[in-house]
Amino acid sequence: MYICSCRPSDQPLTSGGVVEQVAGGASTMADVIERTGAGTNCGGCAKSLSKAKKTVARLAAERDAAAGRRGATWPTHDEFARADSAVSKAVLA
Ligand code: FES
Repeated sequence: MYICSCRPSDQPLTSGGVVEQVAGGASTMADVIERTGAGTNCGGCAKSLSKAKKTVARLAAERDAAAGRRGATWPTHDEFARADSAVSKAVLA
């Protein structure tokens, strides 16, 4: 789902895009915002970004645990789908 439709790059930030940022090393929503510029134009997505903060932190912890447990890249295909859904649900809650 779309979270920020007018970030500076003109590429919408989606729930999957948030997961990709976590996979790339973002550990907080502030990290996601810094990396993507989400929320820095009209501000209309501020509430959505805020609602997903805890989910981003939880996904980052899952990423770190997976790296420690299996030394593998997070997320697997199934983990990506679950993480994408979790971000969407957090925004819609
Ligand atoms: S919708 Fe995110 S800054 Fe406008």
